[in-house]
Amino acid sequence: MIDEAATDFEAVHGARPSGTWAAPGRVNLIGEHTDYNDGFVLPIALPHTTRVTARGRADRRLRLYSAQGDGRVTDLALDGLAPGVVAGWAAYPAGVFWALAEAGHPVGGADLFIDSDVPTGAGLSSSAALECATAAALNDLHGLGLTGPQLALVAQRAENAFVGVPCGVMDQMASACCTAGTALFLDTRTLQQRHVPFDLEAAGLRLLVIDTKVKHDLGDGAYAALRAGCERAAELLGLPALRDLAVADLDPALGRLPGELRSLVRHVVTENERVTETVERLEHGATAALAPILTAGHASLRDDFRVSCAETDLAVEAAVAAGALGARMTGGGFGGSVVALVAEADAEPVAEAVRSAFGSAGYRPPVVFTAVPSTGARRVA
Ligand code: GLA
Repeated sequence: MIDEAATDFEAVHGARPSGTWAAPGRVNLIGEHTDYNDGFVLPIALPHTTRVTARGRADRRLRLYSAQGDGRVTDLALDGLAPGVVAGWAAYPAGVFWALAEAGHPVGGADLFIDSDVPTGAGLSSSAALECATAAALNDLHGLGLTGPQLALVAQRAENAFVGVPCGVMDQMASACCTAGTALFLDTRTLQQRHVPFDLEAAGLRLLVIDTKVKHDLGDGAYAALRAGCERAAELLGLPALRDLAVADLDPALGRLPGELRSLVRHVVTENERVTETVERLEHGATAALAPILTAGHASLRDDFRVSCAETDLAVEAAVAAGALGARMTGGGFGGSVVALVAEADAEPVAEAVRSAFGSAGYRPPVVFTAVPSTGARRVA
């Protein structure tokens, strides 16, 4: 596959590449809509990756080609990059060049060949994978010496300021920093991280990812509105962020907020608790015991934060009814994917039950796969 990438690169760019870098998509176990509130998250990296095969150029041109694109090379002037000037998938790698240059790093022109098997539009962070693979490539090509967390911050800056998506830092940190066999317990305020062993096989369990194949349009504007609502609530409570509100202080705090902000705050505060409780159970080897926390997290996202939708609700219900130990929507919401923790023997029956429920509801068939906690961004050739 790697040799093939070099051959494909040469066919498009007319020379041998310097190397290939890979960065994974992610699935979040628990800790949703907490990252932009300075809270806690617990994602794992997926085995699915985006690969960037690259070579520096002496001129200051950026020539980008995607195997999933329209067969054309996007040719950009490095010095002409600015927020808003590049549209579509090319904005993600171009944004990383821009963010590095803006931070004062000596980046030059480059040829990129991009290939990916991270599902897009599924809430599995294909954007972060593309950003982080590009950042890892440039880090090595130019000998920048940036660490994983530093690359993640560059990638997030690209997405926030260049692409224009006001996301938190979870996806990029997961893609840049996860390690195989572990979940990444991340404090998004301090960026302190702990790799928590997540050995599903030893526990006789599987983590199913159910890609519902739907993405509701309202997701884009709604994410920014939810973020603004959370920030407004923190401001009204006189706190730097909702992270600073303890569960014990929740009820009196809710009484000081306008009705429409209360349920947002309740979700964020209880969700942070769910993350720390999950980590505690995992660290005690009680892997199956995290399942009810997942299902409680879904109820909170559905009823309080209101980012689930009919398809993710049905996937959770059908999975649990068919014997899943716990299940929840994962990622930003308004469609995307669901995770379900199941005993190994129940994996296929649960997957089949969800497919059948989708069939009966007249929904598109979902795609179900087993997630294995995998490795973050790295050089692969
Ligand atoms: C998206 C964003 C993340 C995070 C999640 C919700 O994936 O990119 O930063 O906010 O939604 O947890």
